[in-house]
Amino acid sequence: RRRVAILISGTGSNMEALLASMDPAADPEHPATPVLVLSNDPRAAGLAKAAARGVPALAVDHKPYRGDRAAFEAALDAALEEAGAELICLAGFMRILTPAFVARWQGRMLNIHPSLLPRHKGLRTHERALEAGDAEHGCTVHEVTAELDDGPILGQARTPILPGDTPDLLAARVRRLEHRLYPLVLRRFAAGDRTPVMLQDD
Ligand code: GAR
Repeated sequence: RRRVAILISGTGSNMEALLASMDPAADPEHPATPVLVLSNDPRAAGLAKAAARGVPALAVDHKPYRGDRAAFEAALDAALEEAGAELICLAGFMRILTPAFVARWQGRMLNIHPSLLPRHKGLRTHERALEAGDAEHGCTVHEVTAELDDGPILGQARTPILPGDTPDLLAARVRRLEHRLYPLVLRRFAAGDRTPVMLQDD
């Protein structure tokens, strides 16, 4: 089984969906297993959720590093190496990673983003999809490359934007799609299959 580390910064609902999908009781043949949950924020709610599932959970607080990203990432790498991680899933990890870190993990690091990339890279994606008058919205899982919210697309899930939609309503719909999409993509990716997964809200 491929050894997976999940990097979070907050709630960790995507992390929970990934952990649930890799639970041997749910999927005995799953090609991946979680070995570490890492947060840059010691207060992230996801840390306790991971620990409750019996997955090692650790915070590497970025604050003491004060802008020394290389030193922060060296601490991340040390924890990842200690856990024997082979793949990284970014799941609401809100720190930008340096090109050097990304290069080290190139081809082995996934991210989930709450928009239909290449539309709406960055933050406030639900507001921006509404402001732009988009007909649909959704989420994307992609391989991480040096460019922010770029890299080969491994899966997308779409939902139509409805009259009366608000950022909160859209966020809730997209979140449910994220929880379906990310586990499907990880399962394929860990088995060496990079064919994109395409889902539609039902
Ligand atoms: C998710 O919607 C994820 O797509 C987004 O943060 C949320 C984390 O929620 N990621 C980004 O915006 C990355 N730039 P979670 O902690 O409940 O999984």
